[in-house]
Amino acid sequence: MTASTHAPLTLGDVPRLLSELTLEEKASLCSGQDFWNTQAVERLGVPAVMVTDGPHGLRKQAGAADHVGLNDSVPATCFPTAAGLASTWDRGLVRRVGEALGVETRANDVAVLLGPGVNMKRSPLCGRNFEYFSEDPHLAGELAADLVDGIQSQGVGTSLKHFAANNQETDRMRVSVEVDERTLREIYLPAFETVVTRAQPWTVMCAYNKINGVYASRDPWLLTRVLRDEWGFEGLVVSDWGAVDDRVAGVDAGLDLEMPSSGGLNDGRIVAAVRAGELDEAVVDRAAGRVLTMVARALQHSDAVTFDAATHHALAHEVATRTAVLLKNDADVLPLDPATAGDLVVVGEMARTPRYQGAGSSQVNPTRLVSALDAFAERDLDVDFHPGYVLAEAAGKPGQDRADAGLRAEAVAAAAGRTAVVFAGLPAAHESEGYDRDHMELPDAHVALIREVSAVAARTVVVLSNGSAVTLSGWQDAADAILETWLGGQASGSAAVALLLGEAAPSGRLAESIPAALSAVPAQLGFPGEHGTVRYGEGLFIGYRGLDATGAAVSYPFGHGLTYTSFAYTDLVVDTEEVTATTAQGAGVVRATFTVTNTGAREGVAVPQLYVGRPRSAVARAPRELRGFTSVPLQPGESQQVELTLTRRDLSHWDTELHGWVVEPGALEVAVGASSRDLPLVATVDLAAPTPVAPLHRYSTVAEWRAHPQAWDALVAAIGPAAQMFDESAGDPAHAAMFSAIPVIKVTTMGFSEGLTPERFEELLATYGEA
Ligand code: BGC
Repeated sequence: MTASTHAPLTLGDVPRLLSELTLEEKASLCSGQDFWNTQAVERLGVPAVMVTDGPHGLRKQAGAADHVGLNDSVPATCFPTAAGLASTWDRGLVRRVGEALGVETRANDVAVLLGPGVNMKRSPLCGRNFEYFSEDPHLAGELAADLVDGIQSQGVGTSLKHFAANNQETDRMRVSVEVDERTLREIYLPAFETVVTRAQPWTVMCAYNKINGVYASRDPWLLTRVLRDEWGFEGLVVSDWGAVDDRVAGVDAGLDLEMPSSGGLNDGRIVAAVRAGELDEAVVDRAAGRVLTMVARALQHSDAVTFDAATHHALAHEVATRTAVLLKNDADVLPLDPATAGDLVVVGEMARTPRYQGAGSSQVNPTRLVSALDAFAERDLDVDFHPGYVLAEAAGKPGQDRADAGLRAEAVAAAAGRTAVVFAGLPAAHESEGYDRDHMELPDAHVALIREVSAVAARTVVVLSNGSAVTLSGWQDAADAILETWLGGQASGSAAVALLLGEAAPSGRLAESIPAALSAVPAQLGFPGEHGTVRYGEGLFIGYRGLDATGAAVSYPFGHGLTYTSFAYTDLVVDTEEVTATTAQGAGVVRATFTVTNTGAREGVAVPQLYVGRPRSAVARAPRELRGFTSVPLQPGESQQVELTLTRRDLSHWDTELHGWVVEPGALEVAVGASSRDLPLVATVDLAAPTPVAPLHRYSTVAEWRAHPQAWDALVAAIGPAAQMFDESAGDPAHAAMFSAIPVIKVTTMGFSEGLTPERFEELLATYGEA
């Protein structure tokens, strides 16, 4: 922050400052002073504050700024990226990570940490999936809200990004996402909504892309109507770096702060628009006021804070042990017996050169970096290591990821008859901000190594490091155990070793499905689009929703994860309350209780998951959708009763005629278990709720008119005796059903009724139809 002779700015000063600032000064506050700082107004004692990336560790550039800047940044703890954090399914743990991030942000005199990102993983190929939580909006929203809460509890802000529908990197700065209203409401917006309504992030960052033809950075519907009017957002909207299209339209739409600086260009445009009478000065006041409010909030906590790098490293280790997902563990090959661990063969360059974070704006300069080999050595385990393939990061040259027949042969020879742990995954160049993958496979060099080692080893454990799901189908049978560690942060190596040796038990669960083949993912039919447009033609059916709806094979389903013990789920009881017109969206309507028991010999963390399905819905539905989860540590033999409550909103779908959330009455299937495809407890209950009534319009059918009693009586009176053919209780029910589907307007022309003339129909429509 810049030095000033004025008293520090407080929230109470904002109205006075707005009256003292010139139009030019107010416009200047609406954009940054440079890459990372807001604009100062020294005359009035308004300092600049700094905002920096990123979601899983601070990236404060010490020297010159660059965009996805790899210019050295100050050392900061690199925690597992969001893909890993989400795999913990543990709100409390994620909140603790947030607190640590908040402390580091404060300690570095930064006002706002630019994260988290809650965009949905529409395709496994999105290059930035490592920075996003999940393919499921409930899981992503819940965990991100805890992260934001944790960060902001330390007196610094967050930036919830990238709002909205930024689900690919291809053409990200101009692509138009063509997405229907219901899909947007049910899949792409709810995680943002949950974080905004639960945690009030200080800022929301608008996305680069367009939604249905309108740039997010200038979309009043998105930035004001939905974000503020519907969700009650109180903070500031900042542009993604360079996302501004038309600054004047943007500020009017609700984009308060442009980042980085446009060098005064857009400030000048704002001033000119006000002077020309094209932009209300009150709009500029609103935006400048929000910037001042953010600055004042940051200044409320300007006392010096320090952090203990060793304590945060220990937290990074603990979290990384919780993010890893044990996908398979045949014959309980894991945990390895520490007594014989000295005889291990460790294969794969990633054991020595960990892949622990993703590339782009989120790249952290870690305070420490522990590889798996370091961690074995720290335990005095003198393991036999063979790199097996070449990794660019180790070779120190981009483009050097490659197979090496000699290295592979050495590794295979060493593995014969022994226990081999193969470290494999995606080299950094495979996934990054800025571009998408074009396939889901591991590099050939890694697959060949796994195959050849497993053919000769007594047992083979594969440890994976990648930011988004990879295909396992081609080689997973060759492995006895697979531990997916995602991008585990600076302590990923020590965490992997702790899990392999059973010092900690894996407890991660998949926050994204691993399809058997990429071709089974419905979104791939329209990914990544062409000519500046991507059509989300799969609608609601991303992730497990699509895989389950089409019955596609998965290698491992959403929610799956093993540990070193086992759990049983029993005694599901589901109670429901009637939904009435006055039931609040947040009111509890369904209460599910069940018991989870640790049936094995070791302690472990169960992650009970609750899914709902609507078997007889009038609208398209996924077979099941996650609506509740929790994390339950259990000692061997211990049981715990779990209660999960579903609100009215949890049971609703977005109705595209009413443009609102609607609960359908009728059968509700509540399923509880260990993954989206392992649901031992299922109860079907009858949900009492008012039948949704669609407003009448020109093409409403007989059945739709019948749902409006007054309108129906008037219609029947107009039609006269011929109305009998629509009577379901009399005559032929098959005919009645067929006639029920006829738009009433057809009755006026098809000669069914002399009474219902076109003129009379227009009168009825004017009286009973929607305005
Ligand atoms: C990214 C944001 C990031 C910003 C600042 C953009 O390119 O999309 O996520 O916060 O740069 O580095």
